[in-house]
Amino acid sequence: MKDLPKLQKQALEEIKNSKDLETLESLRRKYLAKKSGLLTQIIKELPNLEPEERKKTGQIINQVKLEIEQALEKKFGEQSTINNQQFLDVTAPGVPVPEGHLHLITQAIREISVIFERLGFVRRRYPEIETDWYAFEGLNMPLDHPARDEWETFFITDKIVLTPHTSSGQLREMEKGELPIRMINISRCARRQSDISHVPTFYQFEGLLIDKNISIANLKGVLTYFAHEFFGPDREIRLRPYDFRFTEPSFEIDVTCGLCLGKARLPDGQGCRYCRSGWAELGGAGMVHPKVLENGGIDPKEYSGFAFGWGVERTYLMRSGVNIPDIRLIYKNDIRFLRQF
Ligand code: DAH
Repeated sequence: MKDLPKLQKQALEEIKNSKDLETLESLRRKYLAKKSGLLTQIIKELPNLEPEERKKTGQIINQVKLEIEQALEKKFGEQSTINNQQFLDVTAPGVPVPEGHLHLITQAIREISVIFERLGFVRRRYPEIETDWYAFEGLNMPLDHPARDEWETFFITDKIVLTPHTSSGQLREMEKGELPIRMINISRCARRQSDISHVPTFYQFEGLLIDKNISIANLKGVLTYFAHEFFGPDREIRLRPYDFRFTEPSFEIDVTCGLCLGKARLPDGQGCRYCRSGWAELGGAGMVHPKVLENGGIDPKEYSGFAFGWGVERTYLMRSGVNIPDIRLIYKNDIRFLRQF
């Protein structure tokens, strides 16, 4: 019994100095093995003691045993980590590096550009801050004309605005004086609107084609091509008469709904819950107004053309299978949402 403190000191010392898992295991056996362990030997002698002495010594032995066990456990832990660090499995698969991707609207802009580029349109970008002339006046919307109210414009000064629509790029393109024109202007626009179908800054794509003998048939052909490429061959468009100051005649373009494909009914006979009518509105289009051609320095007797301007976000939402309940989600930067596209 007197050897107990000595034994404890020696055990802890040996455990501390041990250098590998095998040594540790043999130390565990040396002190704690069920039959032959040094500590176990001492425990076996306990019954020979006086009851008082037995109780006291028993407590001490338990304490010593606990400390040796804890020291072993700690050292086992340390040794295993060292072992793991030293072990390099060159055949183990690598840890995947998180990979990002382009924002869904950047992807849509690229896709739209490519579709029109195939038809000979050239990608343009025009300023996000515009003068009143390019945004309104030059597009046949004189100062104080009520049609201007449609564009819920942010004014910087009386004559300078945040570009409310990409149509302002029409005059800028015409001013270059290069004919014919086939441009696709995709730029950022701003309007004072925010709800489930509007964001205050958004993208529009504006097509402008000016040449000799251009007619509504050409407009319809180009837009049908775009609709088939972007939405799929099973989607159709229609032209609905409308009124814009910078085109005459003017149209709203609708596309058949991506869910019921224009039938307004679902296969189960129920009314379509997306569109009700079978059609969804995409945006405006028309034959460029002679006054606008003149403002751009082009002779309307010699040239004619068509234009269209649609929102990128809205157009994207009309794709089959896209189900985004609130357009503002697109710009919330929530990785759980963005990762899906
Ligand atoms: N600029 C119009 C808007 O933002 C859309 C538009 C309509 C563009 C007719 C056009 C057009 O080029 O011909 O609502």
